[in-house]
Amino acid sequence: MVNIGVLVSGRGTNLQAIIEAIEEGKIEGEIKVVISDNPDAYALKRAQQYHINTRYINFKEFKNREDYDKEIIKTLKEKKIELVVLAGYMRILSPYFIRTYKNKIINIHPALLPSFPGLHAQRQTFEYGAKVSGCTVHFVDEGVDSGPIILQKAVEVSDDDTEESLAEKILKEEHQIYPRAIQLFSEGRLIIKGRRVFIK
Ligand code: GAR
Repeated sequence: MVNIGVLVSGRGTNLQAIIEAIEEGKIEGEIKVVISDNPDAYALKRAQQYHINTRYINFKEFKNREDYDKEIIKTLKEKKIELVVLAGYMRILSPYFIRTYKNKIINIHPALLPSFPGLHAQRQTFEYGAKVSGCTVHFVDEGVDSGPIILQKAVEVSDDDTEESLAEKILKEEHQIYPRAIQLFSEGRLIIKGRRVFIK
């Protein structure tokens, strides 16, 4: 049973998929807290509907990224969090945060990394004209979307796709692979060797 903390900034459909997977007994874990940098994130409402603890932390009240992250970490420690899940969290974590939870922070990105890291990955994919895209769950290291890859799923970009329809297709797959990756973590089945993650 793993104690999970989720960081969110937006609508929270991945959070929803994770909550549902836990309710269905697919993940042996419990979300102890959902933390957001955005007071209006719909993800907070979703969590509250399931009586999950939520916390909004205002970035403007802190003098830098590390101090902000220390406040998040305080809550994560209080809740005895063992896995930090970034679910549409739009801030870059400080090296301090990453060191504190080394190999215990995971993220989902809406592209097949290492292609199209950073913001608006679906738009980048679409504008570049790639024929295949997808999503990636990875451990978070000190770079941007550069940590060891846990799971990926590909989707085709068809001629009649728009940026929105592509994002929609990718999102559907995100909702499958993110709970699966969390399940593998909670079972202790993810073995990191250098850049590679083996599933035992
Ligand atoms: C998802 O598509 C996720 O992959 C992306 O934000 C969206 C959040 O949706 N994350 C990133 O781009 C991280 N750089 P959600 O709030 O509905 O889960």
